[in-house]
Amino acid sequence: MRKIQFLPAVIALAVFFSPVAVPQLFDLPSLPEPWLYGNVLITRQAAESSQMPVSFSHWSHRARYTCRVCHFELGFVMKANETEITEKANQNGEYCGACHNDEISFGHGKENCTRCHNDGWDGSRQRFKMLDHLPKAPFGNQIDWVQALDLGLINPVQSILEDDYEPMEFKRELDIDANWSLISPALFPHDKHMAWLDCGDCHPGIFNVKKKTTRNFEMRYILEGKFCGVCHLNVAFPLDDCKACHPGMTQ
Ligand code: HEC
Ligand code: HEC
Ligand code: HEC
Ligand code: HEC
Ligand code: HEC
Ligand code: HEC
Repeated sequence: MRKIQFLPAVIALAVFFSPVAVPQLFDLPSLPEPWLYGNVLITRQAAESSQMPVSFSHWSHRARYTCRVCHFELGFVMKANETEITEKANQNGEYCGACHNDEISFGHGKENCTRCHNDGWDGSRQRFKMLDHLPKAPFGNQIDWVQALDLGLINPVQSILEDDYEPMEFKRELDIDANWSLISPALFPHDKHMAWLDCGDCHPGIFNVKKKTTRNFEMRYILEGKFCGVCHLNVAFPLDDCKACHPGMTQ
């Protein structure tokens, strides 16, 4: 029994003194190339449909719109293939059709079907070059989206429903203590998230609104796609970037 109780402390010590070993503590999913990170292939109806699966790139859309526009105003679910998108709804101006309407962007005419229904990422690598001027980050899209926004290099639309929408100011920064001693706490800055998201994207669905009441809030669950892992596995910077969340870690 004693041995088991000591184990976390021993690992924590090893982590503390040996920065190189830190990322290897967890089995992180392998990362795709930067221009493929955050891409979603929508295949929900592929089997019954005459059309090919639909390709959607987060990087090209998030440079133009905040997450809130799609995941709060337009009702896209933050999980691939969970949203009941139909072609009829699109043509009625919902989902993709809120913008792909021949006004904001290409519409749903016959000439455009394969711009979405194309089952892949042809030309994606080439188009990704349009973001070359943005500041670099080590993982994911390898773009520092926070800095890109702060420096005004991108100016994503915050709302397509309200002209005068301003994100609610909420600057509270939380230190989320790790369950292991010697692991530096994770930092949660509300303001960096409010630049992209709505309170309703996280509360109460992912996190309780009272600090330290969200249960089982551990790395292994985050790695399963819960809590911070809802976004920090596949769209926002990935978990490989330990020190972005644990500023006290050396890498
Ligand atoms: C232009 C619309 C749009 C924007 C902007 C957008 N998303 Fe998405 N997002 C989608 C769509 C569409 C899907 C796929 C939903 C489906 O298949 O049901 C998706 C899926 C996701 C998923 C699940 C991915 C997966 O592989 O399961 C996450 C996480 C996510 N979005 C987070 C974000 C975050 C964070 C932002 C802002 C940085 C963002 N999204 C911006 C439209 C958008
Ligand atoms: C802006 C992107 C976009 C364009 C353009 C587009 N679609 Fe779609 N379409 C989608 C998405 C997203 C889905 C949902 C796919 C899924 O759930 O698997 C879909 C679903 C469908 C389906 C599945 C069944 C149904 O009725 O919903 C058919 C059929 C379809 N589209 C036909 C077309 C045709 C034909 C065109 C051209 C006239 C077209 N689409 C243009 C994005 C697009
Ligand atoms: C909030 C507005 C908005 C929504 C919602 C939206 N798009 Fe787009 N999309 C754009 C704009 C703007 C462009 C770029 C302008 C252009 O090239 O015409 C674009 C470009 C694209 C492109 C061209 C390649 C690229 O990535 O730049 C594809 C494919 C695409 N969208 C698919 C989709 C699909 C599929 C959906 C729904 C699942 C969707 N979009 C939802 C605004 C939107
Ligand atoms: C990206 C996700 C996310 C968004 C968006 C978000 N929050 Fe939070 N919030 C959190 C997390 C994580 C916690 C800590 C939960 C815990 O420890 O159980 C938290 C905690 C809180 C707390 C408790 C703080 C404390 O010190 O006890 C309040 C109040 C709160 N949020 C309000 C808001 C409001 C208001 C908004 C919109 C302006 C918002 N949150 C947007 C993730 C988010
Ligand atoms: C709903 C989606 C979502 C959730 C959940 C979420 N984040 Fe984020 N987070 C983002 C987005 C989007 C950004 C902007 C940067 C990016 O996309 O890479 C961001 C940025 C950050 C930053 C700022 C980094 C910087 O460069 O300043 C930190 C720190 C962070 N997140 C930590 C967390 C932690 C810790 C949790 C869990 C308690 C969490 N996030 C949950 C979406 C999310
Ligand atoms: C998106 C933010 C985020 C990133 C990136 C991240 N962590 Fe964490 N981590 C957290 C949060 C939040 C907690 C606090 C959970 C708790 O214990 O209550 C945590 C807790 C921990 C713990 C305590 C034990 C546990 O399982 O909860 C360890 C060890 C840890 N992280 C290591 C790492 C390492 C190593 C990396 C890089 C490979 C990393 N973290 C990257 C958010 C993050």
